[in-house]
Amino acid sequence: MGRIGQALDGTARWLLKWRIIRGPARYLANSRYAYSIISRTDRVRTNRLRDRIKRSEMPQHVSIIMDGNRRFAWSQELGREVGHQHGKEKLKEVMDWILDLKIPYLTVYALSTENMTGREDDELDTLYDLYVTGFQEICSDPKIHSSGVKVQAVGRLELLPERVQNAIKVAEEKTGEYTNFLFTVCLAYGGREEIVDAVRELADDHAQGKISLDAIDTDAISNRLYTADLPDPDLVIRTSGEERISNFLLWQIAYSELHFTDVHWPSFSRNDLYEAIDSYQKRKRRYGL
Ligand code: IPE
Ligand code: IPE
Ligand code: MG
Repeated sequence: MGRIGQALDGTARWLLKWRIIRGPARYLANSRYAYSIISRTDRVRTNRLRDRIKRSEMPQHVSIIMDGNRRFAWSQELGREVGHQHGKEKLKEVMDWILDLKIPYLTVYALSTENMTGREDDELDTLYDLYVTGFQEICSDPKIHSSGVKVQAVGRLELLPERVQNAIKVAEEKTGEYTNFLFTVCLAYGGREEIVDAVRELADDHAQGKISLDAIDTDAISNRLYTADLPDPDLVIRTSGEERISNFLLWQIAYSELHFTDVHWPSFSRNDLYEAIDSYQKRKRRYGL
């Protein structure tokens, strides 16, 4: 609710001490006027923060570990599939905010290789259905076409059910020509597996005499990762309070700024995104990078 909200709460609590104004104070606190004042001031504050971060250097590549769908659902006594559904809707919103900020690269972690073995079949089925509709919605969204957003999925995609693979193929075909923005969804993805795949390719190239041992350097590995066509992330955001990387872009985040926030992914707000970027910009300025 922010500082103003807290101040209003404090005033309301103070007013409630006086019996004579307890009634009117309660009425005011619950009224839609109070709600509207608070949400308006929140919006003004968020827009101010957006203006401020837009004046500084923007990260070019933001990547997000979208965590906490089930905890969001449980906290509201909803089923976990509702949490995942809200998570999908949130991603569409976040894409809009990223486009508005003109950040050219957005990469999100939607399913890990560990999730595929560690979650129950019916939860995985719910997730697969959401990816199918998610990709369908993305490629029929006029904004994707007018902004020129290329969409791609990376990971061990062959492990995904055919319906998901088909939805990915359609989205990639429909947006393949665009070059303004690149939106990457990591699915059936593991950072270690990605490095293993790159090393296998290198070993094969070496065996065929295409690359000498001396020529194997960090670039040779980077160029064989799934993300060969995008720069390393400047900023990694993880929602929902866990402060770990969970096998996400291990090689690529060597120098990325990491930002952890307690909010569950479905509750992630425009203000939360701007705060993450603001803290990234502050750290950059402090270290003069
Ligand atoms: C993230 O939310 C979505 C996926 C990993 C697919 P979770 O499902 O991990 O939700 P929590 O972290 O258990 O709350
Ligand atoms: C990481 O979240 C993977 C995604 C967000 C897709 P998890 O919830 O699977 O990670 P752990 O199990 O908490 O490390
Ligand atoms: Mg989780």
